[in-house]
Amino acid sequence: MNISNKKALVFGGTSGIGLATCNLLIEKGAEVIALSREPEKAKGKHHNKITLEKCDVREVDQLDNIFSKYAPYDILVSAATGGTRAAGDFLEMDMDGFKSSFDKLWGYANVIRHGTKNLDQNGSMVLVSGAPARKTKPGMVTLSAVGGAVENLVRAAALEMSPKRINLVSPGIIDTPMFPQEGEEREKFIRNFTENHSIKRAGTPEEVATAIIFLIENDFVNGTTVDVDGGWLLS
Ligand SMILES: NC(=O)c1ccc[n+]([C@@H]2O[C@H](COP(=O)([O-])OP(=O)(O)OC[C@H]3O[C@@H](n4cnc5c(N)ncnc54)[C@H](OP(=O)(O)O)[C@@H]3O)[C@@H](O)[C@H]2O)c1
Repeated sequence: MNISNKKALVFGGTSGIGLATCNLLIEKGAEVIALSREPEKAKGKHHNKITLEKCDVREVDQLDNIFSKYAPYDILVSAATGGTRAAGDFLEMDMDGFKSSFDKLWGYANVIRHGTKNLDQNGSMVLVSGAPARKTKPGMVTLSAVGGAVENLVRAAALEMSPKRINLVSPGIIDTPMFPQEGEEREKFIRNFTENHSIKRAGTPEEVATAIIFLIENDFVNGTTVDVDGGWLLS
């Protein structure tokens, strides 16, 4: 796909990986709509050509309004985290926390189910899973379960969506606002997670966004996952 002059909707496009993707899409000449629950927080951080819209991917009425407002479109990306995430010891974990972590899956499922119809026949969708889907670490039962479900959802949905394409990127630790820690605490957190990796640092949102762009542009890639994880899977 030649991205120039294509229309792209990016859920979770107001922060981190989604925001970096919006900026690259703009550089490549796309019309870009960035959506999230509180889009105003992206003001000043995003390219001024990007249109900001409010939308919660868990709410299908909001999604339907957006999809009809912008139909037809060529590119759909969702990097929305969905809701709260539970981490820690699964056997001790609060069950409500475990269940709400699946808001990411429900959000992605909603985007696929409600967004595919008005996606161009040659269109492309990209979602984001995460390295724990295939190689977990202690305290990551929830992330593994949600990520695994997202990866299988995409592989299976690709068959029904054809010839429209759908793929995933799977990041390792990426330095985004998803992690609230600051200063030395943040450095320690990143070091702890990455010291056993072959590339001993956090990735940047732009490094993930370039993989998303590859999946959009390459018309022969479908139903697959591109790992951008600094060697997490080798550790
Ligand atoms: N950072 C990492 O290390 C890492 C690693 C593996 C996987 N991932 C995955 O990568 C994706 C992007 O993460 P990130 O690090 O870029 O996070 P981020 O910087 O926190 O950005 C998350 C974005 O999702 C939006 N969002 C959250 N819930 C939403 C909802 N219900 N409806 C619509 N928008 C929603 C947020 O905006 P609002 O708050 O305004 O809604 C924000 O724009 C996520 O799926 C995450 O699980 C990240």
